[in-house]
Amino acid sequence: MTVGALGKDLLGLEHLTGDQIRLILDSAEGFKEISERAIKKVPTLRGSTIVNLFFENSTRTRISFEFAEKRLSADTVNVSSSGSSVSKGETLVDTARNLEAMRIDMVVIRHGASGAAKFLAERIESNVINAGDGTHEHPTQGLLDMLTLRDHFKTLEGLKVCICGDVLHSRVARSNIWGLLKMGAQVGVCGPRSLLPNAIDEFGVTVFEHIEDAIQWADALNILRLQLERMTAGFIPSLREYNRVFGVSSERLSRAPNPLLILHPGPMNRGVEIDSDVADGPHSVILNQVTNGVAVRMAVLYLLSGGKPEHAEAAKGGGGR
Ligand code: CP
Repeated sequence: MTVGALGKDLLGLEHLTGDQIRLILDSAEGFKEISERAIKKVPTLRGSTIVNLFFENSTRTRISFEFAEKRLSADTVNVSSSGSSVSKGETLVDTARNLEAMRIDMVVIRHGASGAAKFLAERIESNVINAGDGTHEHPTQGLLDMLTLRDHFKTLEGLKVCICGDVLHSRVARSNIWGLLKMGAQVGVCGPRSLLPNAIDEFGVTVFEHIEDAIQWADALNILRLQLERMTAGFIPSLREYNRVFGVSSERLSRAPNPLLILHPGPMNRGVEIDSDVADGPHSVILNQVTNGVAVRMAVLYLLSGGKPEHAEAAKGGGGR
């Protein structure tokens, strides 16, 4: 399997096979080295035009996609809702069709509505990559989390990963659960019942009510941000209370049978879901996740690039520069 094996779009991990996920992770391994060069550029996507449509705030994902695109020599344009005609009421599809009229090849979209990426993909010819849609999926985050876990543990098969915190509002949680299960990992979730989806028992995960039990069970914790901006009702009594009951502290981690690898997709609420000494501690791979994000996005862009022979040729052996 190679270029074209993912189909036209990357909308989520729920409908990818284990082989497709493995292909992305293996391809990302090959792209890591490009970011370590003095001149971080290969001609793989020269001539391609990519539009980054970010209708929700982002630091990591937006900048990481932009670096990935530029390092593959694509031409990129960034569009946000505030500076575009979306703020005048133009629809998402009209915006995308107008961009297509300017002959683009790919759209990377972040949107507050679950399903927005699929909605767009069904209506435009360009490849669509979901950079996070509402509370649904964030596939490249799930992939970079898996790459970071695989870097450390060498395999995902049989690995015990617990996703902690605000699972209810988390697209990162869904992409991780679906992706990790397909790769043979065991997945736990831990958080207050008010922050777990009602249908959590149907996801094939182990539910932990107490963070202490999750710490005893897991090899790695992926700690989620409390998404206060999506909480319309009183999901937790207070941030202080949440930290007291579910916060990941070094004192709690010290009771684990073995040191746990610590992941967080960012942005972090330090002192709420994760204490600073854990976030910055020796077992944290939070910044490795960010580094891996660029390689994963380069791999996804390459694999979706339509299988143009010149792209495959250019990617071989670093593609020259
Ligand atoms: N992890 C993540 O999606 O971060 P941003 O919201 O900053 O892109």
